[in-house]
Amino acid sequence: MKITVLNGSPRKVNTSFMVDAFVAGAEEAGHTVEVIQVGKMKIAGCLGCEYCHGKGEGQCIQKDDMEKVIPAYQDCDMIVFASPIYYFTMTAQMQAAIQRVYSIMKPPKATKAALLLSSMSPNVYDGAIGEYKGILGFMGIEDMGIFTAKDPENGSDELKQTIYDFAKGL
Ligand SMILES: Cc1cc2nc3c(=O)[nH]c(=O)nc-3n(C[C@H](O)[C@H](O)[C@H](O)COP(=O)(O)O)c2cc1C
Repeated sequence: MKITVLNGSPRKVNTSFMVDAFVAGAEEAGHTVEVIQVGKMKIAGCLGCEYCHGKGEGQCIQKDDMEKVIPAYQDCDMIVFASPIYYFTMTAQMQAAIQRVYSIMKPPKATKAALLLSSMSPNVYDGAIGEYKGILGFMGIEDMGIFTAKDPENGSDELKQTIYDFAKGL
């Protein structure tokens, strides 16, 4: 399976720790994984101009780093959304990468997804999980697993093993 991981964190700390464990397990199982560091990218919000659904024929009028994300969406069998919680949801960079998929409406091949969330506090995941489930319903994609880590679970061996085992079992 080809797996695209969208990492919405702008830094390589807690979310990347979860992503690295996922990649190690998935590659051990023989999957091909591409990690896209959307948190470090310049991706503007959708303008809602509908150029992509008219003259643009699936191409966005805005030329930015989303051009690197779209091919990964198009090629993958599974999408992993990984993000820190910023004000009770995923980061702005991740939101932009999710909403700009509007130019192609849905990833054409993906049938599976997972969600990795890192936060400082407990009980802050409802917004991100609600959005994730809504998107999956809209796209007709099956949820394979949702993993959350707060302090002090972030960076722990137990978290690493849990996510590694999950990915290896895919
Ligand atoms: C702008 C900003 C907003 C944040 N908002 C929340 C929040 O609402 N709830 C929470 O528990 N942690 C919040 N945090 C903490 C991060 O979610 C937490 O430190 C996370 O582990 C960072 O992941 P990273 O190391 O991958 O960047 C926030 C951090 C930042 C920088």
